[in-house]
Amino acid sequence: MANPSLLILAGDGIGPEVMAEVKKLISWFDAKGIVSFDVSEGLVGGCSYDAHGTPLTDETMARAQEADAVLLGAVGGPKYDKLDFSVKPERGLLRLRKEMDLFSNLRPAQCFDALADFSSLKREVVAGLDILIVRELTSGVYFGEPRGIFMEGNERVGINTQRYTESEIARVARSAFELARKRSNKLCSMEKANVMESGILWREVVQEIHDKEYPDVALTHMYADNGAMQLCRWPKQFDVIVTDNLFGDVLSDMAAMLTGSLGMLPSASLGLPQTNGRPKALYEPVHGSAPDITGQGKANPIASILSFAMALRYSFSLGDEATRVEKAVEKVLADGVRTADLMGPDGGSPVSTTQMGDAIIAAMEASL
Ligand code: IPM
Ligand code: MG
Repeated sequence: MANPSLLILAGDGIGPEVMAEVKKLISWFDAKGIVSFDVSEGLVGGCSYDAHGTPLTDETMARAQEADAVLLGAVGGPKYDKLDFSVKPERGLLRLRKEMDLFSNLRPAQCFDALADFSSLKREVVAGLDILIVRELTSGVYFGEPRGIFMEGNERVGINTQRYTESEIARVARSAFELARKRSNKLCSMEKANVMESGILWREVVQEIHDKEYPDVALTHMYADNGAMQLCRWPKQFDVIVTDNLFGDVLSDMAAMLTGSLGMLPSASLGLPQTNGRPKALYEPVHGSAPDITGQGKANPIASILSFAMALRYSFSLGDEATRVEKAVEKVLADGVRTADLMGPDGGSPVSTTQMGDAIIAAMEASL
């Protein structure tokens, strides 16, 4: 049987640096005879614009559709700030999400014990935190029509449209209920049903899916602004949260900071199962391209490495191997190995991106 295929789109900024550490891990799995992938690479974001005048070529889009999983680094950078909206690096990522129909975006926020003091919140609030935000990723105000900047009389008006169909809400709700069942059977749905019709529909549909298909899951609803406040106040009250595209974008950045560093958080964007049973899938760190530290060997590769672990779990049914990677990360952090983003105010000497990758590989070795 052919090896499963991975398409690596390292992108811009620190993307290629962190992805280099993921490639080491892929080679490690191959060398150990655990799993071998057919790996190919392509361009996305600013680097694709530089080479082809577009943040994602049709050819790369087609290869992403064919791949068993896509691993993405990061897109964007100040060099591209002045580009026309239609060819900005972010458009490449949004096109991948939309055309692959990756409607369910899993963003876990887990606070490693060794890092509990790095959060801006008190240790007792975040220690042991392990929550999962499920963000709808292919609809809502990110994609709704009409959109644009138009003339109205003699002034401009900027328009975006929040739009959700029942089936769009239902499918992301189902994916969140399924995940809740695998965890502690608790789901909190967030919207603004007090001010938005799309929020009223969101709440109704999530409740209907619950009553008909998942009555065993403890479901609660919360307005998203209150949800943001509750996430800061006592995040451990949550387990799985399901929310729309824009609220999910904001709430997941907030949840990320609870864990101490944005450099730690992975994500999986999943679509419908294919004929081979695997979902369409793209895995990427939650952090961005970090132009301020690009090329200096300072980037933390952990978010990308943990994203690869999610690929092992969700695309390739290698949950035990995913856990092996996660445990290796936990081990190096417990041993005090730190990239620059994880240094306390009292300093210390940070390791480089490569050294962090090597330490994780060494911990993988030791786990055999
Ligand atoms: C994210 C990012 C993206 C988003 C950008 C880069 C388009 O912030 O994945 O959270 O807004 O979805
Ligand atoms: Mg974001």
